[in-house]
Parts: sequence; structure tokens; C-alpha cells
Amino acid sequence: MTLYLVKLGGSRITLPGEEKRVDGTSLRDLCCQIGKWWEKVEGDSLIVVHGAGSFGHKEAKRIGIRGGDREGRPIEKKDLPGIALIHREVRELHLRVLKDLHEVGVPAYSHPPYPFVSWQGSPGAGRRADITSLKLLQSARWGLVPVTFGDVVEDPSLRYSVISGDHLICFSAMEGCRAGERVKVIFVMSERGIREGERYLREIKPRVARELLGRLGRGVSSRGEEDVTGGISLKLKVGIKLAEAGVEVVYTDGREGSLYEELKGRSSRASRIIKEVKGER
Ligand SMILES: Nc1ncnc2c1ncn2[C@@H]1O[C@H](COP(=O)(O)OP(=O)(O)OP(=O)(O)O)[C@@H](O)[C@H]1O
Ligand SMILES: [Mg+2]
Repeated sequence: MTLYLVKLGGSRITLPGEEKRVDGTSLRDLCCQIGKWWEKVEGDSLIVVHGAGSFGHKEAKRIGIRGGDREGRPIEKKDLPGIALIHREVRELHLRVLKDLHEVGVPAYSHPPYPFVSWQGSPGAGRRADITSLKLLQSARWGLVPVTFGDVVEDPSLRYSVISGDHLICFSAMEGCRAGERVKVIFVMSERGIREGERYLREIKPRVARELLGRLGRGVSSRGEEDVTGGISLKLKVGIKLAEAGVEVVYTDGREGSLYEELKGRSSRASRIIKEVKGER
């Protein structure tokens, strides 16, 4: 029995360079692959997390709101209309994801982070957020497909900051591990895997992934500039942490049926982080 966590990247389900535009063809195709797998699944469970892509992005940039694991300035009263707008925009995308999943027979159920999640402690690497009251695991065990998303949440230091879909994947996969579940995470994004220069890496050991992380630009994303929540660097950091905790971690674009293949087994159109065996170098 496996708990699958699928991250539908904003870079894959929204149109690049266009504000607030869903990539309907891509979203439908990914939902169909999930639906085809779900139809036959027995015993395994699924949690879907999606990113925001171009929804809320412009306003987030304007205000200068940051991912809660990064330094930022406290949100002031004048920023609050913008905070409300970001939340509304990501909810629009969220409703569309739910609808497309319902249309293929997946019982997708909304678990918005805002009322249930807040960052803990001070901003900085390794910062934690308690997601237990989001009830993702409980809902997945009972056969629904909980769907949550990157959004603005409360922050004891900054008042409000962003929790990205990748953070939510990290915390829920760790929660699954602690509960003794076998966990597999599939990051679906606009590129078919982790690229070094022009070359996609098939299998990456955590040690090599960490070296690569050092060479990647800080927060490089599909949006080309430094990302509000950390882009590919955060995704890789999360993957390393999870792989070391025993989670199977895969990166793919989900094209050519590769999301379905990863749900069923393995696809060749992907990069995966392979945990090192003790003593190996
Ligand atoms: N070395 C790299 N390997 C793979 N992707 C890279 C690399 N450098 C930059 N990228 C870009 O980073 C993207 C993933 O980060 P990004 O945050 O933009 O997407 P996302 O997480 O899918 O979107 P969102 O944060 O809205 O959910 C990839 O799809 C790709 O465009
Ligand atoms: Mg991202």
C-alpha cells in the first residue's frame, strides 16, 4: 500500500507569460492520467497538491511577499488588499483543478491551507509548519483525494507569507513517513526532469543533488526570474530531504503518459533521487 503525492506544478498547468490563464489541455491530460490510474486502484491512496503558476503571481511580486522559509519584510496594513487578491486568484485555479479531477471520476476534495496551517518560529532554512489539522492523510485514508495548494498563510514573524505547494508536499510526505506509510512523491513540472546544462539526469544520488543545488541559481523558476517561493531549488531541496527519509522522489513533466506510468510503476521520462546505500560513494 502506497501513499502517492502528486504535485501539479503551476509551471505545467498554467500558461507561461500569461497572467491567470490555465493551460486547459495540459490540466485535462494530467487529470485523465490520474483518473485512468484511480479507476483501477486498490488500497493505495492519493493526495494532490497544486502550485499557483501565474495566478496571484503578479500581486505577490508587487507586494514582495515571500515564501515563509525565506527572509522577508512583515506585511503591513496597506498590503492586505493584495493578500486577499492573491488568495482569491489561487482559489480560482483550485476550483478548476477540482472540476477537472471530478470530470474524470476522481473524488477530489478541497483542503485549503489558510485556515489550518501557519508557519512556526522564524523565517530561515528548515523552517517548519504544522499541517496535521489540514487532515490530508486522514482524508486520503478514507478514500477521498484531498487537494491542497500553495497559498498565503499566517506567519508569526511576517504576519503573512506564502506556503508553496512544494512545502506542502514536503510536510505531508514527512507526516506520511511518520505514520509508517510507504510514500512516493511525483513532482510534475514544465520540464521532463532535473537538468544540468542541456542534459536531463535520470538517477541522482542525494550527495550529487546537493552539489547540483549549489550550482543552480537561487530560486530559478519557469518564470525565468527569481521565484517568490524558490523554483527548482526548493523542489530539489525538498526532494533530497524526502529521499533521505526513505520517500521515492520523481520529477517529470507528465507528458506522453509519464504521470500514469509513474503512478503504476516507472517511466523513463523522469529524473529520480536514489537514496545512497550506507558505505557507498
Ligand atoms: N536545472 C533545472 N532543471 C529542471 N527545471 C529547471 C531547472 N532550472 C530551472 N528550471 C525551471 O524550474 C521549473 C520548476 O520550478 P517552478 O517553481 O517554476 O515550477 P512549479 O513548481 O511547477 O510552479 P509553481 O511554483 O507555480 O507550482 C521547471 O519546470 C523549469 O522550468
Ligand atoms: Mg515552484
